[in-house]
Amino acid sequence: MAESLISISLLSVVISTLVSITFCSASTDDRKVYIVYMGALPQNQYSPLAHHHSILQEVLQHSLPSDALIHSYKRSFNGFAANLTDRERLKLSNMEGILSVFPSRKIKLHTTRSWDFMGFKSNVKRIPMIESDVIVGVIDTGIWPEAESFNDEGFGPPPKKWKGSCQGGKNFTCNRKLIGARFYSSLKDENHNSARDTMGHGTHTASTIAGNQVSGASLNGLGQGTTRGAVPSARIAVYKVCWNDNCEDAGILAAFDDAIADGVDILSVSLGGDSAVEYHFDPISIGAFHAMQKGILTSQSAGNDGPSRSSVASVAPWKLSVAASNTDRQYITKVILGGKTTFVGKSVSPFDMKGKTFPLVDYFDPSLDSCNQSSGRLCAQSHLGTGLRGKIIMHNYLSLGSQELHEKAAGMIIDKLTEYQYNDYCRNFPLPASMLNTEDGETIISYAKKTKNPVATILKTEAIRNASSLVVASFSGRGPNAITKEILKPDISAPGVEILAAWSPEGAPSGVPGDERVAQFNILSGTSMACPHATGAAAYVKTFHPDWSPSAIKSSLMTTAFSMKASINPDADLAYGAGHINPIKAINPGLVYEALESDYLKMLCNIGYTTKQIRTLSGHNSNCSKHLNGSPRDLNYPSMISDVAEANFTRTVTNVGVANSTYTAKITSPPTVKIKVTPEVLSFKSLNEKKSFVVRASRKVPTESNIFSASLVWSDGIHHVRSPIVVY
Ligand SMILES: *[C@@H]1O[C@H](CO)[C@@H](O)[C@H](O)[C@H]1NC(C)=O
Ligand SMILES: *[C@@H]1O[C@H](CO)[C@@H](O)[C@H](O)[C@H]1NC(C)=O
Ligand SMILES: *[C@@H]1O[C@H](CO)[C@@H](O)[C@H](O)[C@H]1NC(C)=O
Ligand SMILES: *[C@@H]1O[C@H](CO)[C@@H](O)[C@H](O)[C@H]1NC(C)=O
Ligand SMILES: *[C@@H]1O[C@H](CO)[C@@H](O)[C@H](O)[C@H]1NC(C)=O
Ligand SMILES: *[C@@H]1O[C@H](CO)[C@@H](O)[C@H](O)[C@H]1NC(C)=O
Ligand SMILES: *[C@@H]1O[C@H](CO)[C@@H](O)[C@H](O)[C@H]1NC(C)=O
Repeated sequence: MAESLISISLLSVVISTLVSITFCSASTDDRKVYIVYMGALPQNQYSPLAHHHSILQEVLQHSLPSDALIHSYKRSFNGFAANLTDRERLKLSNMEGILSVFPSRKIKLHTTRSWDFMGFKSNVKRIPMIESDVIVGVIDTGIWPEAESFNDEGFGPPPKKWKGSCQGGKNFTCNRKLIGARFYSSLKDENHNSARDTMGHGTHTASTIAGNQVSGASLNGLGQGTTRGAVPSARIAVYKVCWNDNCEDAGILAAFDDAIADGVDILSVSLGGDSAVEYHFDPISIGAFHAMQKGILTSQSAGNDGPSRSSVASVAPWKLSVAASNTDRQYITKVILGGKTTFVGKSVSPFDMKGKTFPLVDYFDPSLDSCNQSSGRLCAQSHLGTGLRGKIIMHNYLSLGSQELHEKAAGMIIDKLTEYQYNDYCRNFPLPASMLNTEDGETIISYAKKTKNPVATILKTEAIRNASSLVVASFSGRGPNAITKEILKPDISAPGVEILAAWSPEGAPSGVPGDERVAQFNILSGTSMACPHATGAAAYVKTFHPDWSPSAIKSSLMTTAFSMKASINPDADLAYGAGHINPIKAINPGLVYEALESDYLKMLCNIGYTTKQIRTLSGHNSNCSKHLNGSPRDLNYPSMISDVAEANFTRTVTNVGVANSTYTAKITSPPTVKIKVTPEVLSFKSLNEKKSFVVRASRKVPTESNIFSASLVWSDGIHHVRSPIVVY
């Protein structure tokens, strides 16, 4: 593979080998960490810790419960993480009251012109008194508490409902803005004893959600402007679960257990696996389910394994799953050849050569070293140690610049941008570098061949305005949903390309070891950056509607989103869901599609969960037999998707707009799809009144791999409540 995304912009930090969930027949005494998930906490008098110990006592062969137990989940749901042998694990799987046992995998991590870009200006209407009562929980790589974005000047004491604490470790102080901190690691050593962010990712995401307004922010002068979060008056609580690129399931679940009990209002999780996992085997789906039970919305990045179909990793319907799209700010880096010809390339590389030229070396040229044609330029890697200093190195593969930095090369040109799969965002390089399209690259190569002493200079990266249309990034995970194909995922799109936000001074801005620049802000791309924009927008909606359920908030974000064009987004709704977040419209949606816990449980029954499982999961006396003939398609979701010739969707909307109002249905659909809504008019007499309708979607022709995008808009003339309808 010519290109690997590894460690660029945290887009795809090293993917740790996923521990297989399959049985390992050779039973050995090797232990590894398993999560034992037991659903909701029983309501009667119950001591989870004692129960976990007694379960362990029963299955452990050569160790003590206290040695094997790693986390006890007991504040918000029930379960534990323990170091077990395969045989012990098997014994556990068959025990009463246990929903799932799965290995604690290592998952990966998946900035601010972006708010202005969507019309969300710094002077938008706010309710500061309420905003300062909103607590956002960020599960990530920790935080840099001293960053200006988290200064607590002007903040009052934490809201009364706050039950968390500041346990950030040594030399870690919270304040009235950053009101809580905890960290989780199965390793107990001096490198794992603080919630301080030594990487930058968690500082970046937290500041995008709720950072203060900070003027004069830039990465070495690049992206100059004011950064701010969506809700600058809100409070932040951090839960550090990632240590560099390693985020362990067991710690993530412990973070949810605490965050829910601590009293956060919204949770933001910019991390995840590289594919969708069944709900009761996925710690983020489990945690988000129990958060939903307590009225807390979890927003998660869709994942960075696009653009193939079914690459979206965040799929549970009770989460908000966020795709990444561009903004109108882009970065360009010019290369001037031989003092004459200018080429425009892409990169984030804020270094100034001050016009000085350097010798240009093309490692493909076999005459320069002992490489032959068939080994191509890749053989250059073995020569990178020689003669690099002071030269601009040309590559036809994506070098991250690590060796070039080490050997003190002057700069780097990568020349086949057009051919890379992921060519729609700028990499962040540790030295002057630019990625040129293939045609320009070829011109440079032939210049280097023909010229006796070829020279070039690389200009400092510039930010430009490019008012092009909204496009989902190549890396952003696409639907359909691999676990429940009747639920459209991702839900929504938000800015996730080249985002400027706060950074940890200990983190390398390019992510390349040896990049010793100390940056207070950094420019990154990923669904990791899109997720906090959606979290922030959700928190903003919450300040206007503190009593709304997670699904009502999610519905308002989805039905008011800016629509995106199927014609320029190849996977259409499977890439962007309901469209691009529009926080201002979202505070006044008119109607909401609300789904409560019982609706999700019904959906789980409909996809095969048993009554027993549902009861353990929820802690309630639900019964699946009432829902035997239902379809997950009937979950009251703000979007609709069908892969069959004909499907009916039953939906119920709740009036949250004007008491006395009449909404009329408007359908937009391609000729190949027929959509009928019954009834076509909904009349409301009061607020919170509910009305149901059925959407019948049929396709007139068999589809190949085509996606047909249709939509239903309920409008009373003021509100336009839009749901995408996807037929594929
Ligand atoms: C689990 O047990 C193994 C020994 O089988 C040990 O090497 C490992 O450090 C333990 N892990 C934890 C997190 O305690
Ligand atoms: C605490 O951390 C800050 C930031 O890394 C550092 O500047 C300071 O020296 C540390 N203080 C102590 C006592 O370690
Ligand atoms: C080209 O070089 C590579 C490694 O340097 C070597 O393995 C290969 O055999 C060479 N091919 C030819 C045709 O000489
Ligand atoms: C503007 O953005 C569009 C779409 O991403 C892209 O095709 C075009 O090249 C960009 N223009 C510049 C000047 O970068
Ligand atoms: C669920 O409901 C059905 C019919 O109402 C009943 O026969 C069955 O016993 C119930 N199941 C449980 C586990 O209570
Ligand atoms: C959808 O509903 C209509 C009207 O009730 C019914 O005639 C049709 O058979 C239904 N289609 C499916 C696939 O259930
Ligand atoms: C509701 O609206 C209708 C039509 O605009 C109007 O005729 C009616 O008087 C209104 N009812 C109330 C109670 O305001």
